[in-house]
Amino acid sequence: MSDSPIKTSNNKPLRIAVLVSGSGSNLQVLIDAMQAGALPIEIVGVISNREDAYAIKRAEQANIPVAVLSHTDSGKRMAIKTFETHASAQLTTWQPDLIVLAGFMRVLSAGFIDNMPPPMINLHPSLLPVYKGLDTHQRAIQVGERHHGCSIHVVTAELDAGAVLTQALLEVHRKDTTDSLQARVQKLEHQLLPWTILLLAKGVINLNSQDKGTFSILPTLPLKLYLDS
Ligand code: GRF
Repeated sequence: MSDSPIKTSNNKPLRIAVLVSGSGSNLQVLIDAMQAGALPIEIVGVISNREDAYAIKRAEQANIPVAVLSHTDSGKRMAIKTFETHASAQLTTWQPDLIVLAGFMRVLSAGFIDNMPPPMINLHPSLLPVYKGLDTHQRAIQVGERHHGCSIHVVTAELDAGAVLTQALLEVHRKDTTDSLQARVQKLEHQLLPWTILLLAKGVINLNSQDKGTFSILPTLPLKLYLDS
């Protein structure tokens, strides 16, 4: 990760690359905000590790360059090292200020993460540090959590363990199922992601290699949004 905070003081839009694996509803929120002029960003490219991801269509419809890195030329599923080699080359071409993992479902290697010049953030569907990994909504219901939500954290080599920048939380309803909770949390994600990127673009949250996330006005991170949906 680079030593300097994200460059935005020159009033240029923040250049963002988005990594996706699925539907891309979070990507769509960013596209809509960019097109509406509501967020000072330029989505310079989208990388999908799945060729069937609907996110690809969303990017194409918005005329955003897309790299699909799912299979090798011989038809084999790409090994993570091969994926990372191609992704690195693509990102070098696009020169993003920030890499956003939005529903990206492959685990990246420490070498890739540590050597990537721009900071990288990930959207995770739980109130980290609880429920790292998969099946977060199901686990929250099984335990009987009163609150649940989503987090945006800095990507580090340890899975879902980097500094948490922001969180959005809601109350778990007694009637919630895994599906209803997932849908409710996804609504939060659609607010948390653009809000967090705005804070980064405006320099309110600074990312640098020393502390991997400092807040320039208030003393502590994560910033929390309490939302109901
Ligand atoms: C999100 O719910 C995220 O929390 C999870 O994957 C989902 C991606 O959704 N990791 P989408 O592809 O942005 O619609």
